[in-house]
Amino acid sequence: MSTPADERRSSLHGEWSSRLGFILAVAGSAVGLGNIWRFPYVAGENGGGAFVLVYLVCVFFIGLPIMMAEVLIGRRGRRNPVATMRLLGEEEAGVTYWRWVGVVGVATGFLILSFYSVIAGWTIAYIFEGGAGEFTGAGPDRINEIFSSLVSTPLLTGFWHTLFMLATVMVVVRGVEHGLERAVRVLVPALVALMLVLLGYSMVAGNFADGLRFLFEPRFDDLTGGSVLEALGQAFFTLSVGMGAVMAYGAYLPEKESIAKTTAAVVIADTCIAMLAALVIFPIVFANGMDPASGPGLVFQSLPLAFGQMPGGAVIAVLFFLLLTFAAWTSAISLMEPAVAYFMETRGWTRGRAATVVGGTIWALGFLTVLSFGPWSSLTFLRGTIFDNIDYLSNNVLLPLGGLAIVVFAGWIMAVNSTADELDPAAGRGYRLWRFSARYVAPVAVVLVLLNAVGLF
Ligand code: PHE
Repeated sequence: MSTPADERRSSLHGEWSSRLGFILAVAGSAVGLGNIWRFPYVAGENGGGAFVLVYLVCVFFIGLPIMMAEVLIGRRGRRNPVATMRLLGEEEAGVTYWRWVGVVGVATGFLILSFYSVIAGWTIAYIFEGGAGEFTGAGPDRINEIFSSLVSTPLLTGFWHTLFMLATVMVVVRGVEHGLERAVRVLVPALVALMLVLLGYSMVAGNFADGLRFLFEPRFDDLTGGSVLEALGQAFFTLSVGMGAVMAYGAYLPEKESIAKTTAAVVIADTCIAMLAALVIFPIVFANGMDPASGPGLVFQSLPLAFGQMPGGAVIAVLFFLLLTFAAWTSAISLMEPAVAYFMETRGWTRGRAATVVGGTIWALGFLTVLSFGPWSSLTFLRGTIFDNIDYLSNNVLLPLGGLAIVVFAGWIMAVNSTADELDPAAGRGYRLWRFSARYVAPVAVVLVLLNAVGLF
């Protein structure tokens, strides 16, 4: 007997060409500014050591099972996240309100991409700074000056942000399957290779021992409820889970591919790249007497110092910021995809119209971030600047809540038959382990961290 889910399988829209295609697309989404820009500075602000440990626990015990849940839901629904959650909610529980998980996810994507694109704009600007030899021989003061004068000039950051959004919309208009697989196939290995070269530099020229100690010596006294939530938020952000990006990509995953293997590969790769970035950056930070807790400027202030001192540094700087821009680009595409798929499939818009309207709205929102590093930098409330608030709301509140809803849906609402059908029809040990994590470990952990952060636990 064929079930509705079976029928959807045979009536697909595009599919990834292979399992590798899907892994590459999800890796392209996961690997980005989250690994290289955000992880090091958030780890620095939260004292390193214990934070890194909590982060790793969050990635593997919470992030991975949630990513599996997202992909399985996406593949079963075969639609955009709003329609998929609505459809599966009806199939599994006879209610339509699960669509709200998709709606909030789409909104979260808008918020995240609005600041993401601005930071990606900084990386584009740094390609040119590096190429012009601005870093050559520059000391910490000069490097700081380059950074502050860039981010405090809205005309410049606004320009680069606009360029990045245009580039993102252009790809999304053409459809995500085109070119994305091919781009990521070159990009991620190239990025890793370059980071390994930089790691070599940091080991020789940086203060590697202090870097290692900072990152891997747990000092639990420094750990607060707030930093545990930061670690959780960073885990969601870096894995792209909790807002439907991975769900939207899962909709194109061929039926026979193993979800467990593909997601595990992405999670491991993503984690290695974040660790690599931190291992490159902190030895440079400590060798130059910089403050590890200096915030969102950390990568832009530490690496250029190293580029300015190493032989061939200008070329390496250009390559590095170029690759980082591409990595941000493949993530940005995935941040837009749920919204674009929603407006196309559910509202009947063309891909071009959906991408333009979604991209235009996000572009406009981005100026809040542009200004909050410039003329509005002293306008602070709640968590800090406007950027700090958007970042906190999306990464530390909306992604964890979205991830919680997704994993509760997969673990508690969906029938064993349905989830086992997608993950492991034999319902073997791997499946039982996932189901236990999805029902108990991940939801309980997320709830405890959230309650703890608001002081209720
Ligand atoms: N994971 C991406 C990064 O680390 C950011 C992202 C978050 C992409 C959420 C999609 C969804 O840069």
